[in-house]
Order: sequence, then C-alpha cells, then structure tokens
Amino acid sequence: MQKKKVIVIGCGSRGKTYTDIMKSNFKDDFEVVACAEPIADRRNYIQKTHSIPHDMCFESWEPIFEREKFADLVIIATMDRDHLAPAMAAIEKGYNLLLEKPVAATPEECRMIQKAAEKKGVFVLVCHVLRYTRFFIALKNIIDSGEIGKVMNIQAIESVGDVHQTHSFVRGNWGNSEKSSCMILQKTCHDMDILAWLIGKKCTEVHSFGSLSYFKKENAPKGSPEYCYEGCPVGDSCPYNAEKVYVDMKYGGEGWLDFVATEKVFPTKDDCINAIKNSPYGRCVFKCDNNVVDHQTVNLKFGDDVYVDFAMSAFTEGGRVLRIMGTQGEINAKMNGDQIEIFNFLTRNTRNYDFDSAATDEAITGGHGGGDTGIIYALRDLMNGKVSNSVCEIGESCDNHMISFAAEESRLTGKAINIKEFEERFR
Ligand SMILES: NC(=O)c1ccc[n+]([C@@H]2O[C@H](COP(=O)([O-])OP(=O)(O)OC[C@H]3O[C@@H](n4cnc5c(N)ncnc54)[C@H](O)[C@@H]3O)[C@@H](O)[C@H]2O)c1
Repeated sequence: MQKKKVIVIGCGSRGKTYTDIMKSNFKDDFEVVACAEPIADRRNYIQKTHSIPHDMCFESWEPIFEREKFADLVIIATMDRDHLAPAMAAIEKGYNLLLEKPVAATPEECRMIQKAAEKKGVFVLVCHVLRYTRFFIALKNIIDSGEIGKVMNIQAIESVGDVHQTHSFVRGNWGNSEKSSCMILQKTCHDMDILAWLIGKKCTEVHSFGSLSYFKKENAPKGSPEYCYEGCPVGDSCPYNAEKVYVDMKYGGEGWLDFVATEKVFPTKDDCINAIKNSPYGRCVFKCDNNVVDHQTVNLKFGDDVYVDFAMSAFTEGGRVLRIMGTQGEINAKMNGDQIEIFNFLTRNTRNYDFDSAATDEAITGGHGGGDTGIIYALRDLMNGKVSNSVCEIGESCDNHMISFAAEESRLTGKAINIKEFEERFR
C-alpha cells in the first residue's frame, strides 16, 4: 500500500501529537509532506522530524491551498475559532480531513463544514479521541452485548481537574469564550458525543446550570499580586502557584504544561522561568480574563426514556467517572486506571472487566487513554476503506455538537431546550 501524504496545519500540542504518532507507529502508512505554523520552533520541529523540504513549510495555511492538491489528508489542529477557514479551503480542494474538535465555534459554522464536505464527497474525521480508548470501547461493547439490559440512566462526571482547569480554562487558550468557545462545547463535546454513542439514541431535550464562581477576582487572596512570581503572601499554600506548576513541574510531570506555556518544543528551565514572568501562564488564577464556567451540570433526555445527568467540574483531581444503570445490571466505571465493574441483578455478583483478554488493535495505551493513537489506527483503516465502529464522521459529530450548543443556550436562558427545534434553526 502506498503511503498516504499528510499536511499538518497548526503544529502545537495536537498537531505535534498526531504527527509524532504517525512517525513512531505508522511510518509505513503515512508521510508528513507539508506543515503550516507561525511559531518557528514548532514548525522547525515538524520539518526536522519528517524531513520536509523547506519550501513545504509555511507560516500560515493559506499558501497550501493556492497549490494544486498534493496530498491525501489535511490535519487541522489550529485553535477552535481557526478551524472554519482552513477546513473550507481544504474541502474545496478535495482533501480529506482529520479535524480537531470542536468542529467550529458556532452551530452555523459546524453545519457549513458538514455541508461542504458532503457536497464535495470528502471525509472529515473529527477527533473524538475518547471513542478510540480501550475504556470506552469496552463500555460500548458491554452495553451492546445486552449484559445490563436496556440502559435507563447514566450519571457521568467529567472531572476536569483543578490544575488542568487553571492551566487551560483560566490562564490558557480556552479561558475566554470569545477567543475559543464555551466550555460545554470545547471541553465536553467529547462527553456529549460519547454519551450519544453509548446510548445509541438521539438526545431530545437538555437543561443546564453552570457558572464561573471560584476563579475570579472576588476570590483573590488578600495582597496577591497579578503574577505569582512577584511574591504572593499565600504562594506556599496555593496549588496554582505558577512557579510550582511550570518551573518545579510539581503537577504536570509529562512536559505537557511547559510545552504549552513556553511555546518551546523542548523547554529549558530558563524558558519556564521566562514563561511565568512574561506569559499568561504566570498570572494569578484569580486575576485572569477568563469567563468560562468552572462547574456546570446538564440533564439530558434521550430517545426511549433514557435519562442522563452530567457534571463537569474543575473541583476534582481529574478523570471521567460513569455509572450506567440498566434493567438487568449496572456498571460503575472510572477512566483513570481503566476500572469497570459490572453488577448483575440475577446472580447478585460483581465482575471486573478484563481488559487484557479483550484487547483490540485500536484499544492501546498512550495520550487520552490510548485515544490519540487509536484514532490514527482508525484513520489509517478509513483511508483504506475499512470503517471501525468508533469512527465519528462530520454529520454525526455535528449532531452531537448541537447538544453542547443547546446546553449552553439552556445555561444562559434558564430554559429547557428541545433539540429537534434547536437543530431546525441551523439546517
Ligand atoms: N481531541 C482532543 O482531545 C483535544 C485536546 C486538546 C485540544 N483539542 C483541540 O485541538 C485544537 C488545537 O489545540 P492545541 O492544544 O494543539 O492548541 P495549540 O495552541 O497548542 O496549537 C494550535 C497551533 O495553531 C497555530 N496556528 C495559529 N494560526 C495558524 C495559522 N494561520 N496557520 C497554521 N497554524 C496556525 C498556533 O501557533 C499553534 O501552534 C483546538 O481546537 C483544541 O480545542 C482537542
């Protein structure tokens, strides 16, 4: 099989992740032939890693689509509000896409991309990476096997994690919805998608409450400066002290936090010190320009009387938790550590799901519980005409994005939203 030629647009955290995986696990399947990225250090890393000729490395995506089509796939991994323009240009040229979530920041823009792709006959695989984790593949298989009967209720928690919240959704890229999108879209379009996938029915109604209550100016400790390094009176007892997070790497561990804060692919300690003095990541978490929620709940009604209560919260250690209640049994599951317990109403026994005996090609380990690698497996297969069960193409993804958009409308208006009526507005 000939290698598929790949263009990557946006070589930050996600663009690097997918192309690194292609290089390490799929070198016979994919070849990265061009990249676009304004930050030189990130662009140079991709150029060097994939031996891309200099004239195929661009500071922005536009020149790529001024050329005749020269590859099989475009990865779009720019920020949320910068998906629409390159996606439309790529589709117009007839490229297939691996598109980061959220598809776009508004319902209208999501449907625009969907319609353009359908008209052109290209595929757009949306990066709902949870679907490719062994954890969620296992849950889907258990439900579909009928072991717990018909699903009646799900309680689901997206435990964002306090440090992740302050890094990404207070100080970082996604803190302000005008620059990115609302949190129930950008963070939990994954969860809305996975719930719809697990249940296998359409969501019909949502109602949501949520607010930004803690990470705001009123709660700033007395005497705290704008930047932690300026000497904060509570610096020793604050878990979000920038020095601890980005210089001592007390909470990150894997280099993900400092990659983002420094904009350097291989940051030094000096780069980290510079970042906490000169970048948004050095700010006091109570004195940022963030406006997205720090906790939110959504009640969802799906077809066939399946009810879900979903919580997204900063005030957690991190990791997804689910309780799935069926007519013949219940599942208690924690994504951290891949723990799934199934209780059977007839036998009154609990069994632990055995991941080792159920392992599949896709269900492997790595970033996002294996989902980052899993989606590249599925992409390779899709490009060779084999569609895995987990694949979420643009139409299904957009339908599930509508649940997030409707939840946000409900949060802002205080009203329950009928999904069918909501969708009609964006046909
Ligand atoms: N699937 C997931 O689980 C997941 C996880 C995290 C982020 N995301 C999504 O992935 C997307 C990217 O997130 P990220 O964390 O990689 O952000 P990032 O900021 O690390 O990367 C985005 C990159 O795009 C570059 N860029 C800006 N303008 C550009 C242009 N004109 N042409 C080319 N590149 C340009 C930026 O310089 C940056 O390096 C976002 O939409 C985000 O919501 C998805």
